[in-house]
Order: sequence, then C-alpha cells, then structure tokens
Amino acid sequence: MPKSILNVAQIRKQFPALQQYMPNGNPFIYFDGPGGTQVPQRVIEAMTEYLIKMNANKHGLFGTSQKSDAVLEAAHAALADFLNAAPNEIAFGNNMTTLTFHLSRSIGATLQPGDEIIVTRLDHDANISPWLALQEKGAVIRWWDMNPENCTLDPAALEKLLTSRTKLLAVGYASNAVGTINEVKRLAQIVHAAGAMIFVDAVHYAPHGPIDVQDIDCDFLACSVYKFFGPHVGVLYGKYPLLEKLPPYKVRPQENDPPHKFETGTLNHEGIAGAAAAIDYLAEIGKSYGVQFANAYSQFSGRRRDLKMAMHAIQAYENHLSLYLASELKKISGLKIYGLTATKDFGQRTPTFAIRLPNVAPAEIAQRLGEQGIFVWDGNFYALEVTTRLGVEEHGGVVRIGLAHYNTVEEIDRLIVALRKMI
Ligand SMILES: Cc1ncc(COP(=O)(O)O)c(C=O)c1O
Repeated sequence: MPKSILNVAQIRKQFPALQQYMPNGNPFIYFDGPGGTQVPQRVIEAMTEYLIKMNANKHGLFGTSQKSDAVLEAAHAALADFLNAAPNEIAFGNNMTTLTFHLSRSIGATLQPGDEIIVTRLDHDANISPWLALQEKGAVIRWWDMNPENCTLDPAALEKLLTSRTKLLAVGYASNAVGTINEVKRLAQIVHAAGAMIFVDAVHYAPHGPIDVQDIDCDFLACSVYKFFGPHVGVLYGKYPLLEKLPPYKVRPQENDPPHKFETGTLNHEGIAGAAAAIDYLAEIGKSYGVQFANAYSQFSGRRRDLKMAMHAIQAYENHLSLYLASELKKISGLKIYGLTATKDFGQRTPTFAIRLPNVAPAEIAQRLGEQGIFVWDGNFYALEVTTRLGVEEHGGVVRIGLAHYNTVEEIDRLIVALRKMI
C-alpha cells in the first residue's frame, strides 16, 4: 500500500498548513492542490531569509544585491534540474499565464498572416487565450477537439489538422480539470515532422510526475511553482536557440540574452528563493523515498536524479491513492466521474477527479465540504472548453477532487462519508 512508498506522516509534518484544525478537532483536508498546493516549512524559511538577509535589486555592487543575484542564479539552476534543461533556458515570471502571453506575443511577431496555430479543447484557458490573441496578427486558429466520452485527445485527429502553414501546437501535459495526461513526447514528434513547434503547458502535471524537456523534445514548456509546493512564481522553459531568436517585449536596459530578456521588470525575488527551496524539498523526497527507482534514471546524477526519483515515488504513491479514491467514488450511487475511469488507464491520468452528483450542484457540494474542512474546487477552473464540451458549463461545472502526495487514505475516507451524506 502507499505507506511503503512515502512516509506521509513524516512528509506532512513539514507542512505547517496541514497542522490546521476545524473547531471539532478535525484537520483541514486539502484536496484543492490543482488550484495551488501547500508549502513546506523550508520554502517559508527561504522566503523569509531572502527578505531579511538579501532583499535587494539586481546587479548592485554591494553585499545584499550580490547575494540576491546568487540566489536568482541558483534558482534558475534548480528549475533547470527539475525540467532537465540548461539554466539559461529557464525564465521566471509572475505566473504561467503572463509568461505564455509574453511568449505568444513574441512568437506572433514572427508570424505571417495565414500561419496556423493549433489549440485544444482539453486545455486550461491560459494555453488557449494567449494563442487566440494572435488572430489579431492574422493567425488562423485550428481546434483539436477532445473526445467527451473519456476526455482524451486523439493524435490521429491532430495529424489531420496539420498543414504546411502550421507553426505551433499548444497543448497541456495534463488536464487540470479531469486529469488526462497527454503523450507529449509523441505529439512533439508529430508536430516536428510537420515543421511546427510545440508549447507544453505542464502546470497541472508538474506536481505529479517527472518532466524531461530533452526527452520530450518540446520547444517550450511552462509551469507554475505554486502548484508544486512553492510560492506564486511562473516558469518558462524554451530551447535556447529559439529563445535567442525570438524578439522579446522588454525595457531597453534589460539584458538582451536569454533567459533574462524574457524576465522584464523586477521579479518576485523572495518567491524565486522559495521556488528553489521547493525544488530542494522535492530532491529530499527523492533521496528519502525514491532510491528504489534509481535504475530508471541512471543517465542522471546529483539533484537531477534525485528529482526524477522523487517525482517517480510521488507518482507511484498518488497512483495508489487514485485507485482507492476512484473505487470509493464508484460505489456512490449516481455519482459521475469525468475522464479516464478504467483502472487500466490510471497511468494516463493524474490524481485529479472531476465529479458530479445527481441533484446537488457542484457549488453546493464544495460549500458543504468546505464547512467540514474539506477543500475542493467547483466550476470550470478556467478549463472553460472542457466544461463546455462536457455540457456542464451551464450547470455549475464539476467538483474537482485533487490529490497531492501529502494526502492520505484517511482523508479520502472522510470525503467519501461526507459525499454519501449528500445523496
Ligand atoms: C493546466 C493549467 N495551466 C495553466 C494554469 C495557469 O497558471 P498560472 O496561475 O500560473 O497562470 C493553470 C492554473 O490553474 C493550470 O491548472
């Protein structure tokens, strides 16, 4: 069972937010991870330490600024290790949405009227609207529909959308609404064969499994550290030659080289210090619980390997949790789970479950669970196309139960009891 993979009790002790209780003594249950995860103490300390000891702007000729520069550089290296990239291929920003708008505008500046971009109906709007905005430049948007039966994207349908004018596919690594994982490596091969680029939104996937941008061979990938145990900071990866070539939107004194040309304005330095600490937290998970998976990552060493082992261990633990949650949900009469539900498909989904109950609106479910200290999201979570395609957008969307590696079987049991009382 899950306990053999991670020592969750030990892990939970590191998260102060998990030590909060309802007046009746029940601990809060955080099933809201896809909207933002909790942070371990070391992240809080790294941010505090930054603000106390090195709070300064960049490139000053004095101690605090030099320390601050060192922290920012170390954070680029930490995120590069997480994604298996080079540090100068990592740009920080406010969040994934802002970075993606920035990049889409840069790419837009290189497009000709009639060039085509493919977006999907399984994606979060942060990987749709920045590309739709390029219609102003004459770009043509092609929609890759999802199969509403199981919320998957069919690569054969992608092949039919590709033309000699296709410049980019914007696709999620995993759906934040229903948890489907896309075969991004295969998709990269398909679009590259057609002479186009691929932008991967890894925001939802990042807390749930290892990412290797070199193996995927994606051109760009974005994620958000607040979804994987860090503060509110966005991260953009781009292949160096592409970042070098693209025109940035920046102020003149800003550096002209990647990645800093995509980091215009003063960044959230304390958040970036916390981002590096989140990576160190994950690396510790790898060292403590991931050694059994080391053989799968013999091509890596040091922190890169620790991080891959960590995410593998987390994935294995979460898979057990998912199987348990799904089996309990399926026993509740009338409850509908959207997306992949067959046990055999659980390797292709994250532990994020979209559900509806007959006769109880998603907002009411979330409200009643919230009153019991069980935190879940309801609505569309900005995956507007998904809820529209599923025909539930007009009916309050869905309830999203999002598991993270700090969740437990006992918490799932409390949720199930609470849901049963609603039918
Ligand atoms: C899959 C996915 N993509 C993009 C985003 C947007 O990320 P950010 O909040 O960093 O802009 C989210 C946020 O929920 C998401 O889940």
